[in-house]
Amino acid sequence: MKIGVYGGTFDPIHNGHIEIARAVKAELGLDSCVFVVAADPPHKDFSGRTPAELRLEMTRLALENEDGMRASDIEIKRGGVSYTVDTLERIKQLEPDAELYFILGADMLSSFKKWYMPEKILAIATLAAVQRSGQKADLHALADAIMNELGGTVIVTNVVGMELSSTTVRSRMNDALPITGLMPYETELFIHRNMLYMPKELVSLGKRLGERLDEARLEHSLLTAREAVMLANRHGLDAEKARLCGLVHDCAKLRGAALESYMKELGFNPTADERKNPYTIHARLGALAAQKEYGIDDPEILRAIRLHTLGSPDMTPFDEVIFLADKLEPTRDYRKIAKIRVLAYEDMDAAVAAVIRNNIAYNRSRNMPVHPSTFETLEAIETRSETGNELLNAYSNTDTEE
Ligand SMILES: [Fe+2]
Ligand SMILES: [Fe+2]
Repeated sequence: MKIGVYGGTFDPIHNGHIEIARAVKAELGLDSCVFVVAADPPHKDFSGRTPAELRLEMTRLALENEDGMRASDIEIKRGGVSYTVDTLERIKQLEPDAELYFILGADMLSSFKKWYMPEKILAIATLAAVQRSGQKADLHALADAIMNELGGTVIVTNVVGMELSSTTVRSRMNDALPITGLMPYETELFIHRNMLYMPKELVSLGKRLGERLDEARLEHSLLTAREAVMLANRHGLDAEKARLCGLVHDCAKLRGAALESYMKELGFNPTADERKNPYTIHARLGALAAQKEYGIDDPEILRAIRLHTLGSPDMTPFDEVIFLADKLEPTRDYRKIAKIRVLAYEDMDAAVAAVIRNNIAYNRSRNMPVHPSTFETLEAIETRSETGNELLNAYSNTDTEE
């Protein structure tokens, strides 16, 4: 058994890490590769780093579908600062017959001689160095120097790490830029569900929302924020604003007695049509709550919250981003949704019209009332859609649910 050992903070793990492991595994013919997730540093250094349990879970999710790769918690279980030598010794204890290959980057190889007990590391494992693109340092000379001085084996692999870094992922999250495709999908969703790498104000807003909404509704809100970021970036709109709006759009989505008392608390009077279609109440009520409870004054945000359920004939692109993000986020899984999602990236008018048509068909099939403004909105949006009815027809007749 040849086992690769790949250590790191993985905050978060991304495709660059996985690519390196895959390539080293293939080049050296490894049977498996263990990603050893670093423990939290003791007290003061902790600031800003994601707790170990979450980093471990992200790594575990990312490797779920990778052949022969897994996340290890041995450093986390031990706690505090871990020395590579201890980790390798522990793995050797667990797998006494295995040949260990410790995977490390070019910069780590440069400082290797200063590590704690480097000879012992080399006695337990072969070092497998990965190159960095555009790097000038002569890794082969470095490897020879280490072997001459300390013994053991140092292999310079042909693997070149990609440009991506965890820092890039974190700053993209902070700046409301999409991170889709930079890591496996389940890891990405985990980041959004857990509000990782988001600005502090948004995290505390999300926590406040969680006090009022149930878990599923909060998850929907966080994933709507994700979808809004993607759509806003695609259509050249303010993605930070779209993220905030997506996060709070359902802040008044309550039922029964909780809804009644919230309306009372905020001094809100529903219209007769809203009473007939109670699920629509939370849209206008939500705009009021966003302002009164969450201190949001931006008229564009409040308007998009108000319109997110029924739309309106004069929906702006920003309104459409929120309307669509709400209907297309990953937990929504009605038939053909993937097609409407594609449409939303091409022509938001056409996508909004497709969603409304589906809602009408869905309500009718279940003998549920259709809110009267719906038809007016559908006609106006269809008329102005650049894509035209041909494309629209191709995407209609889709099941949906509110
Ligand atoms: Fe809603
Ligand atoms: Fe929603």
